[in-house]
Amino acid sequence: MKKLFYVLFFFATGLTLSSQDPVGPPPAGGQQVQQTPDLIIPFATKNTSLVFRVSNRDGRLYQSYFGPKLMNTDNLNRTRDAGHPAYATFGTDNLFEPAVRATHNDGNPSLELKYVGQVFSSNPDWPGYYLHKILLKDPVYPFEVTLNFKIFENEDIIEQWVEIKHTEKKPVTIFNYASSMLHFDAEKYWLTQFHGDWAEEMKMQESELTAGIKILDTKLGTRAHMYQTPVFMLSLNEKSDENNGQVIAGTLGWSGNFRFLFEVDEKGSLRVISGINPFASEYSLEPGKVFRTPSMIFTFSAAGKGQASRNLHQWATKYGVLDGTGSRLTLLNNWEATGFNFDEKKLTGILDDTKKMGLDVFLLDDGWFANKYPRNNDRTGLGDWQENKAKLPNGLGYLVREADARGVKFGIWIEPEMVNPKSELYETHPDWILKLPNRPENYFRNQLVLDLTNPKVQEFVYNVVDGMLTVNPGIAFIKWDCNRMMTNAYSVWLKDKQSHLYVDYVNSLYGVLERLRQKYPHLPVMLCSGGGGRVDYGALKYFTEFWASDNTDGLERIYIQWGYSYFFPAISVCNHVTSWGKQSLKFRTDVAMMGKLGFDIEVDKMTENELKFSQNAVVTYNRIKDIIYTGDLYRLISPYEENKAVLMYVNSTKSRAVLFGYTLNARYGETLNKVRLQGLDPDKTYKVQEINVSNEGRRGPGMGPGVSESGRSYTGDYLMKIGLNAGSNSPLTSVVYEITE
Ligand code: DGJ
Repeated sequence: MKKLFYVLFFFATGLTLSSQDPVGPPPAGGQQVQQTPDLIIPFATKNTSLVFRVSNRDGRLYQSYFGPKLMNTDNLNRTRDAGHPAYATFGTDNLFEPAVRATHNDGNPSLELKYVGQVFSSNPDWPGYYLHKILLKDPVYPFEVTLNFKIFENEDIIEQWVEIKHTEKKPVTIFNYASSMLHFDAEKYWLTQFHGDWAEEMKMQESELTAGIKILDTKLGTRAHMYQTPVFMLSLNEKSDENNGQVIAGTLGWSGNFRFLFEVDEKGSLRVISGINPFASEYSLEPGKVFRTPSMIFTFSAAGKGQASRNLHQWATKYGVLDGTGSRLTLLNNWEATGFNFDEKKLTGILDDTKKMGLDVFLLDDGWFANKYPRNNDRTGLGDWQENKAKLPNGLGYLVREADARGVKFGIWIEPEMVNPKSELYETHPDWILKLPNRPENYFRNQLVLDLTNPKVQEFVYNVVDGMLTVNPGIAFIKWDCNRMMTNAYSVWLKDKQSHLYVDYVNSLYGVLERLRQKYPHLPVMLCSGGGGRVDYGALKYFTEFWASDNTDGLERIYIQWGYSYFFPAISVCNHVTSWGKQSLKFRTDVAMMGKLGFDIEVDKMTENELKFSQNAVVTYNRIKDIIYTGDLYRLISPYEENKAVLMYVNSTKSRAVLFGYTLNARYGETLNKVRLQGLDPDKTYKVQEINVSNEGRRGPGMGPGVSESGRSYTGDYLMKIGLNAGSNSPLTSVVYEITE
């Protein structure tokens, strides 16, 4: 039992008035009525205030303020207008989109929420944050909502989720159940969204919000973020850039259908409602049961998007990503090199290559399993997780041992939530599969989704992983894939509760992951979903990293990684050097180094020079990776704005930094200006050294013409005010600088 270090309860007895005691306008004749001031509930991080107010007029909770930190919040209860509803309901007097909607046992569709009390708690086991709960209740029905806020002071992050509960006689249907509702009163609102598709994830687009509703959402169920990742940035008043402007960055920790709704009302106020997508998901909530929403994680920056990203990164490495402050394993994957076509001999050759390259892990991808319907292509075998006897006559154990003999680790690909119709699993358990009973099956990548809401399927998925790890305790890495969305979905298990599917699926998945993490707390697992189809902080609690995209073309990848960098720290983003792009090996390697480095390439087809370059790159990477993993990111030149991309990472003591510069295209007449660095200490003197130089020298492939600054020392002041040459006038060239005090 954990000791609560500090818990404070404030329950309103005399503090709030009930709806039966309205406080009207002051009586005529200027006579003043003494009124208890409204209760103010202020939350503060290092640079931000979020303030709620309980109105004595109606007992409701309002958001009075969200923005740069206030020195004093007392003045906020001197205005007559208490603010905007903190968690707007449906059915009473709210005229805009509600955060919550429910129909009671008697058919009454209305909800009224009044402030009841608050609980503040902090705990020595929670370094760096405290928890604040605000309890709201309907005065007529036994229905309550608790708003939960985790306040991360140092990182300027607020995590909010909501718990809904009732004690009516029968289940109550809830139709909307947002994780958070935030309000803004600005001149204008600029929304940056990140959308895409397979192999073109996280395309960034900014547009002005106009009157009415704009929705960013997904309805895909699984691989839910294939077209839209659950993230956004919102600039107030004017467009913000990396260093200027008021920005809110928000992301929902939910691996299923999500919705961000932005509504600008007739007065120009904006409400942002974030949470599970209520689409086709009305939920029948049993009496006494708690419906807990996923967490909305958000930050406010008064200094542009760069600071918002750094806040999220700092938070994520400590609290958002499993073992986010630890290290990561470099790896060699065989998917691009072999596809399904391999055998034991070929794989032991790749184990040799892993060692030769100086990498930590060999990751065996898809195609190693199933016997009745061997997994020799993507049409068969998914679901039958036994080693294929023709390809692996000596089982996985043999490969684990061979890896061990070479001093490298062994990792394995699985996709345990899915099934091919041509599989033994499909034949034995047709009722474990999401499919409509009376319509044709609808395939995507020739597969179907297992019904994870069924406890037997949860057990099966758990055992796929646990069984494998029990037999082969030497398995040191897992890639967990998920290659399709839900279509024609129907759950035999859920019976008349089909509208629970989207919600229950994700919670069931988290249940399995939770169990696995209890037994295997630190095993590195890559979150993969046909590329970036499942990237969110709901899942990343259980995963050490994610596969950003199947698109590993160096040029394309700059944009994809750029997009993810707004919300996810480099340590969580897996980047592999492959043969997808036409750029030089140096260019592709530099790009892949801006996160967690891996290779998925035919090492045996490399020239001697390429091999040497790659081996050196791995050594270099191991030297600098700590700066990339946990340093502060500064995006200096955006590929969305110029034919260049430049960014840098700076460690916490500002003694070491790494800068990556890319020339994507070189247009006639485009001049090369120096790039001004950021995040350094102006008083320190730094040595600038170009690294990852092609071993064919400065004229080698992918190199720009000589960089004059390399090898010299400059003050931080000089580097931040005058800058460095970080590009060339040859297209598809790159430069990496190591900057050391
Ligand atoms: C999709 C993943 O994104 C790829 O990296 C690879 O693992 C394939 N699945 C294997 O089927």
